[in-house]
Amino acid sequence: MINYDAFMSRAAAHMQDSAIRRMGTILAQGRDIISFAPGYPAPDTFPWTDFQEIARELLSGTDGSVLQYGPTRGFRPLIDVIRGIMSARDVAAGPERLLVTTGSQQGLDLVARVLLDPGDVVLVELPTYTGAITAFRNVQARMVGVPQEADGIDLAALDDVYARVRRDGQRVGMLYVVPNFQNPTGLLIGLEKRARLLEWAARRDVLLLEDDPYRELYFEDSASETDVRPIKADDHEGRVIYLSSFSKTLAPGYRVAWIDAPPALAAKLEFAKQAEDLCTGGLDQRVVYEACRRGIMDRQLPMLRTYYQNKRDVMVAALTEEFGSDVSWPAPRGGFFLWATLPPQIDTNRLIPRAVEHGVIYVAGDAFFVDGRRTHLIRLSFSAPTPERIREGVARLGAAMRAELDTITRSEAPEASPLPPAAR
Ligand SMILES: Cc1ncc(COP(=O)(O)O)c(C=O)c1O
Repeated sequence: MINYDAFMSRAAAHMQDSAIRRMGTILAQGRDIISFAPGYPAPDTFPWTDFQEIARELLSGTDGSVLQYGPTRGFRPLIDVIRGIMSARDVAAGPERLLVTTGSQQGLDLVARVLLDPGDVVLVELPTYTGAITAFRNVQARMVGVPQEADGIDLAALDDVYARVRRDGQRVGMLYVVPNFQNPTGLLIGLEKRARLLEWAARRDVLLLEDDPYRELYFEDSASETDVRPIKADDHEGRVIYLSSFSKTLAPGYRVAWIDAPPALAAKLEFAKQAEDLCTGGLDQRVVYEACRRGIMDRQLPMLRTYYQNKRDVMVAALTEEFGSDVSWPAPRGGFFLWATLPPQIDTNRLIPRAVEHGVIYVAGDAFFVDGRRTHLIRLSFSAPTPERIREGVARLGAAMRAELDTITRSEAPEASPLPPAAR
């Protein structure tokens, strides 16, 4: 028997399956399980007929470049479309700054490779996106968490954490933030705070990694285009590396996203990408390009905002009805997620098997914390299930929680009182 551990790199020893991906194996068992676990867009929102038409045309065989290798930076017409998207977000990104990536997940991996050495510190929000944790862990970076307030990252805590890390003699590689409808909390960094965050980064000479896949999905009853202004829009010195993606607006299966980085970094990111995949799939990039050029993307956005806002409403109503004041959450003003606090005696990791028994899954809050804490938090994704399944899933979750509380109460009940002496 070969001991493969002995052959593995130190980095490989740290690699782990993501908690969210792990949930996929439960679903694969084929039972009737309602999943609030992964942040998947709803397939019924995909513009199927348009995609069929575009793919048929692209695969007509008249343009050989469709199935050929392409430039690492990306399909040039798509880069121009992305420049237009960035310009609508108030960011003037020239082609020397842009790189098409295979999902923003690759963007996270590339940035980690280019900026971080083993042992370097990345400052992250508490909680933060698990995919970023995976990318940073894979390059053996050390993640240090900064608490959040209702309007996002706590700036005073950020400065304290930064000062402590520097006092310990460690290099801070960057600060990673998801300012719009954060995964997992759904929180939005306030506008004033965005400005102060940028000032802080300049004062402390830290690079910011701004990850922005959800910004187009603001719910018009409580947020607007103004609230989701990228930090990058006010970055005049090249301090922010910006990631965004077509995954949540067109379809994640195409794996098309982009990075806007200062040119010197963009060049390095390109080299790092050459080693990973040479280029993002050419057919995928062209489909996304055509979907933008033909106005399909513009048509999708208002529909998606209403669609996901409605699902958020259904989940909020169902939770309120099922749990009353036992469960609370910050109201999501956009995105896919609701971050719920369960009663304190519930360990949400331990609740998972019971939830599965009742036919529902979610992601336990612990997965999003880099400080190893145990929580009574859960991330519920309302994006993919139908409204009926959301209602039914919340009812199942309620049943699972009540069963768990019942078990806890019984195990904590004092031993049956001893019989009075006369009865012995
Ligand atoms: C905050 C955040 N960043 C990045 C990603 C990865 O997105 P993509 O599909 O573009 O790789 C996700 C996906 O859920 C996400 O929530």
